[in-house]
Amino acid sequence: MSVATDPNGIPVRRFDTLVIGAGGAGLRAALELSRAEAATAVLSKVFPTRSHTVAAQGGINAALGNVAEDRWIWHMYDTIKGSDYLADQDAVEYMCRAARRLVVELEHEGVPFSRTDAGFVYQRPFGGQSRGFGGDQAARTCAAADRTGHAILHTLYQQNVRAGTYFFDEYLALDLIRDDDGHVLGAVGMEMATGELVVIQAKATLIATGGAGRIYRTSTNAHINTGDGLGLVLRAGLPVQDMEFFQFHPTGIAGHGLLITEGARGEGGYLVNAEGERFMARYAPSSKDLASRDVVSRAMVTEVREGRGCGPDGDHVLLRLDHLGEALISQRLPGIRESARRFAKVDPVHEPIPVFPTSHYTMGGIPTNRFGEVVVGADGAHHDEVVPGLYAIGECACVSVHGANRLGGNSLLDIVVFGRAAGNRIQDFLARNRYHRPLPESSAEGTRARLAELEAPPGRDSGGESPGRLRRELQNLMEAHFGVFREPEGMAEGIERLAELGERIRAMDMGDRGSVFNTARVEALELQNMYQVGLAAAHSACARTESRGAHVRRDYPGRDDANWLRHSLYYLADNRMAYKPVRMQPMTVDPFPPKERVY
Ligand code: FUM
Repeated sequence: MSVATDPNGIPVRRFDTLVIGAGGAGLRAALELSRAEAATAVLSKVFPTRSHTVAAQGGINAALGNVAEDRWIWHMYDTIKGSDYLADQDAVEYMCRAARRLVVELEHEGVPFSRTDAGFVYQRPFGGQSRGFGGDQAARTCAAADRTGHAILHTLYQQNVRAGTYFFDEYLALDLIRDDDGHVLGAVGMEMATGELVVIQAKATLIATGGAGRIYRTSTNAHINTGDGLGLVLRAGLPVQDMEFFQFHPTGIAGHGLLITEGARGEGGYLVNAEGERFMARYAPSSKDLASRDVVSRAMVTEVREGRGCGPDGDHVLLRLDHLGEALISQRLPGIRESARRFAKVDPVHEPIPVFPTSHYTMGGIPTNRFGEVVVGADGAHHDEVVPGLYAIGECACVSVHGANRLGGNSLLDIVVFGRAAGNRIQDFLARNRYHRPLPESSAEGTRARLAELEAPPGRDSGGESPGRLRRELQNLMEAHFGVFREPEGMAEGIERLAELGERIRAMDMGDRGSVFNTARVEALELQNMYQVGLAAAHSACARTESRGAHVRRDYPGRDDANWLRHSLYYLADNRMAYKPVRMQPMTVDPFPPKERVY
């Protein structure tokens, strides 16, 4: 069979839909499409079951009420309060209403959820979740021990194989293809082992590449989480939204960043400082260790800064689980026992785990509506002008259901709810767009030029640095200048250092490309994405002169609803910022107006 090529001899593959990313979001959307007999390709830079969804531990939220009475509207209230009122309330209502059905569906597809004694799906308490609009602690997070993401990802992959989804494994998406009318027509991909390019032509292109937590030094994120999808849209001239909001998970293993699930506190674990004090009672008198993540992370950093940190350097606090007993830990938290033994050299059955906040989740991302369509709003307005043929879902998207701070257990929910929604919306689009639009002749030209410059960078003769070294510098810079607490001078210095780092990244040297596995090429391409995401996060943080959710400034300590109840949009060209209003009107219920947020 002959393979179609573009004018430069690059192979062209044709599908109805191209899904970029094989985590839970991409696979849930692909499943909807393949089952509807749309020709669907999933491109992934790792084998699909190694996607980062596999690392999600604690669970997925749905008001099933299996352990204690619950209602979807209480879940909606908690999500909006947790977001510090920046979430779009129509999207939150949609997600919380759909949760029950989608979790039951996962169970029927084969996810092996843990069980209550009565045989129902097990649900554990998680942070920031209440009953009756801020009352007692809820038990809403449906869990498969502490390996819920693993169970969901494997189930979705197997169902996709069964449904006939086509996989481009170990390919990196380099650039979107757009025509002069702004339609997205697919993407240019690269086979990582060979460096060969391929043009993947599609009527609809869905970005589901996950988060960008690796722009920080310590992170719960896999090394693959380099913000590739955000780089794709930024280079296409489109904005990213709310990038100042990065979540720091309270319990990363100190020094490593590896995740110790919030489920450990949900099962009864608690934090102590060097004096053995359960300090969370001072910061969140009612919810204590199960306050929302931004609150707990700030409390931990404050304890360390005020000299009550543990260990020889006083640089972390301790998570105690020893009172829970070996039986419960083995049944409900086997994975974190293993991680603690391996990385912290402690057995939580007997000893506390040293923990410190670590980058975990990208609340911002590609702006979309609740159907997964990528939208661009005119400056200051919220026009919801759709980019034809382009969709985004999951952590790389900003729909926005997490606002300024996400609740634990809502990310696995987000990926299945909006994966399904986007899959359905794309089917409607395919029904109206039955034929491929013609590809521009130059569809891979920009990518080829970018690769050529990487091969022969301008500063190479004067000694460019390696991508690995520059990546570490970016991660250290972001952690030092745009971490849990943000200082005005620190951020200004961070912006200057980023500009200087950008010059060095342009001149980076990939070293010897004669070797069989040229991982430096992929690292260099990932670093370009990480750098662009870093710029977005830094400029968005400097521009927002208030504190809200995960974005906390020493110089503007309060939330400022009069001026800042709005979403940020960042454009790569000239680091331009624009803004659009938050959607305060839910679909059917009354809005939840902003109030003071206490736990
Ligand atoms: O702590 C955790 O298990 C993480 C869950 C989440 O981020 O949703």
